[in-house]
Amino acid sequence: MNPEKRRTVIAGNWKMNFTPAEATAFINEVKPLVAGKDNCDVIFCAPFVTIAAAQEAAKGSNIKIGAENVHFAEKGAYTGEVSAQMLTACGVEYVIIGHSERRQYFGETDETVNLRTKAALAAGMKVILCLGEVKDERLNGITNEIVSMQTKLDLLGVSAEQMKNVIIAYEPVWAIGTGLTATPEQAEETCAVIRATLASIYGEDVAESVTIQYGGSMNEKNAAELLAKPNVDGGLIGGASLVAEKFRAIVDAAQ
Ligand code: PGA
Repeated sequence: MNPEKRRTVIAGNWKMNFTPAEATAFINEVKPLVAGKDNCDVIFCAPFVTIAAAQEAAKGSNIKIGAENVHFAEKGAYTGEVSAQMLTACGVEYVIIGHSERRQYFGETDETVNLRTKAALAAGMKVILCLGEVKDERLNGITNEIVSMQTKLDLLGVSAEQMKNVIIAYEPVWAIGTGLTATPEQAEETCAVIRATLASIYGEDVAESVTIQYGGSMNEKNAAELLAKPNVDGGLIGGASLVAEKFRAIVDAAQ
């Protein structure tokens, strides 16, 4: 973390978990545990049908509720999709885009990730843009090239001004939901590569101001070490965001 330069952000990604009633109960449980922990922003990204219940439970707290995806069109014949206009109409400010599970299982490409990112930003949303290498890419020593290329492609046409509303989540795909975590050194090195890529596109000042999270089996045990690295500005947390005490410990590590 580098709180002088940029905001630390701890975000939960609930994925396909929690009914509205379960989300309400969870937010009510976690709310007092993270209250007053103002050195980081606290966000939970929820399934579409759970957002309203989570927002209601989070009212008056420091917890913000986001979505897990958004379509690039404003409206139209896109069965099953939800637009940025629909989300903002529901008071949703944050959205995850380009999660590796969307890329792996639902055919998302850097091109569709870029379209979704531009649409969300144009609608005034804040984007948590996910990118990261798969195992073979790391084993073959091309991680830096991959994340650099993803950064460039996913942000094509995004202005320096709009970067104020972009958070990047570096998520090595081999670490997501596997219990394997990047070492703090690996996380730091790759987040620094992403920041250097941002500098090459937008200049140093913008690059230094962008929050870059680490995601991939971040938990109550490894969070402090990861967050101690200067280029790791927070976490995007899956499994451990479903357990209030674990999530609290990660928020505490960011204080
Ligand atoms: P995990 O998920 O913490 O369960 O590995 C992280 C993510 O997918 O964002």
